[in-house]
Amino acid sequence: MSNATPSREQFYGRRRGRPLRVGQRERQVHLLPVLSFALPGTGKLNPASLFPGPPSDIWLEIGFGGGEHLAEQAARRPDIGFVGCEVFENGVAKLLGEVERRGLGNVRVYADDVRPLLATLAPRSIGRVFILFPDPWPKTRHHRRRLVAPPTLERLAEIMKDGAELRLATDDPSYLSWMLEHVTAHPAFVWTARRPADWRDRAEDWPATRYEEKARKAGRMPAFLRFQRRARN
Ligand SMILES: C[S@@+](CC[C@H](N)C(=O)[O-])C[C@H]1O[C@@H](n2cnc3c(N)ncnc32)[C@H](O)[C@@H]1O
Repeated sequence: MSNATPSREQFYGRRRGRPLRVGQRERQVHLLPVLSFALPGTGKLNPASLFPGPPSDIWLEIGFGGGEHLAEQAARRPDIGFVGCEVFENGVAKLLGEVERRGLGNVRVYADDVRPLLATLAPRSIGRVFILFPDPWPKTRHHRRRLVAPPTLERLAEIMKDGAELRLATDDPSYLSWMLEHVTAHPAFVWTARRPADWRDRAEDWPATRYEEKARKAGRMPAFLRFQRRARN
């Protein structure tokens, strides 16, 4: 089976910002090739095979931005193998700096569009997925670029294990309604919130991101959504 990207439409923002500093460029040349991996041309990728010892689970962060959440999670949970995906070069550079500074051995990086990765990961291979503050694409004509949408949810339902958790965050009220509408409409996912505090407050084991800090400073209230992948019959 081919792992080709389903559509050629670009649904992420910019790939590059300001030029990388010398240290960042060095890490991009020497560290990124060590942490990144190629997708097989055919067949599926078992993400556990990317790590030396078998990790107790594999967690995936899509669009990790500057990587502060990913690095903190990886430091707290050395038993877990973390796969981070990000198209923005300067964000990847920040994560590499954190990986080096903290000596993290349990992080792998896919520095490209997540769609081919989602198409290639083996079924039932991922125990937790984070999509934190994805680009809201507020204009109606851009809604089809939203990452949290039926094609992504279809792929996540396939690659996530039974009982795996999907964590989403947003500070955009329209994207919040959209997320709730689309994820709860998908038969594989159930929203686990019981009371408002469950989605208004970030849990202890959910480190903050740069984007969340920006949102709070601007007076926007973030929402933190947790869904469970239902058990297959
Ligand atoms: C608004 S930022 C949030 C970054 C980070 N999660 C945070 O909370 O600070 C959204 C990120 O998703 C990344 N992104 C968007 N579409 C993507 C895609 N198709 N594949 C990989 N990364 C993507 C963007 O490059 C950007 O860094």
